[in-house]
Amino acid sequence: MKTTSNIVFHQATVTRNRRELQNNHRGVIIWFTGLSGAGKSTLAHAVEEKLHQMGCRTFVLDGDNVRHGLCRDLGFSNQNRMENIRRVGEVAKLFMEAGVIVLTAFISPFRADREHVRDMVGNSDFIEIFCDSTIQVCENRDVKGLYKKARAGEILEFTGITSPYERPDKPEVIVETGRLPLTDCVDTVMESLETVLTLFSSDYINKDLCTDSVKIS
Ligand code: ADX
Repeated sequence: MKTTSNIVFHQATVTRNRRELQNNHRGVIIWFTGLSGAGKSTLAHAVEEKLHQMGCRTFVLDGDNVRHGLCRDLGFSNQNRMENIRRVGEVAKLFMEAGVIVLTAFISPFRADREHVRDMVGNSDFIEIFCDSTIQVCENRDVKGLYKKARAGEILEFTGITSPYERPDKPEVIVETGRLPLTDCVDTVMESLETVLTLFSSDYINKDLCTDSVKIS
């Protein structure tokens, strides 16, 4: 039997639309993908800093952090990575429905897993940012010393060495994180978010729904 049998969805009265109106921007998932050491986390946090200073509600979900908690039971087999991204996708969706701009920084090496998250929320809610950096650059940086260990055979199934990375086919944004300075990368991402941040001038938000507040008796 499916575990979701006999479970009925409860409709909230405080809807996503109402939260977004209150926040003055919409919720969205900004999905950073790329090799370990490509600069996903650095870029995600720098973009978050910019958005926060603009008054946006934001949150970064970061691979290394999430793997200390929610995904502490997972390793780096293909199956485990798939489950990692499935969980992160679900959590990111919840944040987005709460009206938050959620930035995720995970290698997320498999196209199908990233597409699964995109399909779950829809194209307009998912902005895929490919942090494009060659394995040579990542390995030369080797900030955490993991490439050295992977080459020495001390870490198995290491992305880019003994485990695959599938480049996105059509990401919304490609940022050359291996070549460009951080400020340029942040500018590229911010430009791509212009429509997200100005959506209140469009028809996206159903204002009738938003002003329809519910009386609490
Ligand atoms: S993912 O493949 O499942 O998306 P995730 O982004 O959560 O990976 O975690 C990647 C981080 O875990 C890397 O940045 C690195 O610090 C660490 N790590 C440890 N072992 C591995 C490995 N075998 N392959 C890739 N990253 C690893």
